[in-house]
Amino acid sequence: MPPIEIIPRPLSLILVGLLAVGSTAQTWCGKHYSPDLPVVPPGGNFPIPVRFDSPQIALRCSPAIRPYLPEDVASSDTTFASIIIDAPITYSGISNAVPIKLPSTTSTGLEVRVTIDGKTLTRGTVKLNSTKTLLPFSLRNLQPRKTPYDISCTASFSTQTFHATSSLSYLPNPPSTIGSVTKMDMRTGALLARPANGKGGPYTPVFPVHPIPSFGSLTALDLVLDEMQQAGLYLMYDMRGTYQNKTSVTEQVNRIKSRPNLLLWYTADEPDGTTDPLNATSISSNLIKSLDGGDGKGGVGYHPVSLVLNCQDYFFNEYTRGADIVMQDAYTIGNNATFSTVWNTVCTKDFGDCG
Ligand SMILES: *[C@@H]1O[C@H](CO)[C@@H](O)[C@H](O)[C@H]1NC(C)=O
Ligand SMILES: *[C@@H]1O[C@H](CO)[C@@H](O)[C@H](O)[C@H]1NC(C)=O
Ligand SMILES: *[C@@H]1O[C@H](CO)[C@@H](O)[C@H](O)[C@H]1NC(C)=O
Ligand SMILES: *[C@@H]1O[C@H](CO)[C@@H](O)[C@H](O)[C@H]1NC(C)=O
Repeated sequence: MPPIEIIPRPLSLILVGLLAVGSTAQTWCGKHYSPDLPVVPPGGNFPIPVRFDSPQIALRCSPAIRPYLPEDVASSDTTFASIIIDAPITYSGISNAVPIKLPSTTSTGLEVRVTIDGKTLTRGTVKLNSTKTLLPFSLRNLQPRKTPYDISCTASFSTQTFHATSSLSYLPNPPSTIGSVTKMDMRTGALLARPANGKGGPYTPVFPVHPIPSFGSLTALDLVLDEMQQAGLYLMYDMRGTYQNKTSVTEQVNRIKSRPNLLLWYTADEPDGTTDPLNATSISSNLIKSLDGGDGKGGVGYHPVSLVLNCQDYFFNEYTRGADIVMQDAYTIGNNATFSTVWNTVCTKDFGDCG
């Protein structure tokens, strides 16, 4: 079934590609689908969090922008340099959830302190059970560097203390081999980029185009990309089919990264469907970032890495570890997701050629 790929709303635009799903693998999403093969549970299900009787707090913190650049010191946006704090109260054993003793009366809130190497970056009061509180900080206290900073967030609430960690990327100005920078705005989910024609100007909303490989020839690809640049169209550069080949990825990234209209990288197309190795997406992402201004060990580069998953519930955590942006395949309305007309079999959680 050829789905249409849609970049979800936070990315603010949308594009287009047809997929070849005609995989020769014996499984799809880890499931047998040929009628002569047995039903074998595929595993890889997303773990269902345990339920607690008592409240938990799942403190989270993250920089508002990834990455920061030296130019951001002068930003007039007062929350551009800030740390986003979430302090949800939950009864599920989600990531970083720990017990909290809630007062019977309404109280003042959490006193949050964000530090780097023990030095305070910012602090403030955050309401219990709130999300997206912004604590502004000054980039002047930090030096740009390739390696991300480890940030530590501590929340005090009467006699209780809670912790979370994150990383903050503050990269130097890009070298001449890098043609553009794309910042992820975690406050809104938007991508921020300067005009795609390479002539300079403020960061603007983006309209990416997503050519699907193979590209015929490099000459043909270059002609298309040159035209796109002139027309002010951004590029989502797709390495499906080659993303696990380090030599090929290195060649492609080094060829494309000087383009001013490069918006983001795209690695794997439905790697969960084809059951690519569980570490393939993160290995590829680290390599790409090491060639694109990052440290190659988890810090971001000058452009985010994206991928698309297909399966309903198959090793989601593992495959998304290699992605800053996870996209979905949007299938047509009316598509029958419980029956495969190609194989003439039902699709269930354990069997069939569906997601
Ligand atoms: C926390 O917020 C959620 C969502 O707004 C709400 O449903 C829930 O009742 C709140 N929990 C507490 C303990 O206040
Ligand atoms: C990997 O990519 C290189 C460079 O494009 C190519 O020469 C090589 O054949 C590829 N290897 C595999 C296993 O496809
Ligand atoms: C990736 O996983 C494979 C098993 O699928 C393993 O053989 C390989 O060593 C892993 N690579 C890294 C870099 O961890
Ligand atoms: C899907 O197809 C099967 C077999 O033709 C049919 O029984 C079922 O009702 C269909 N489901 C939907 C939602 O169309």
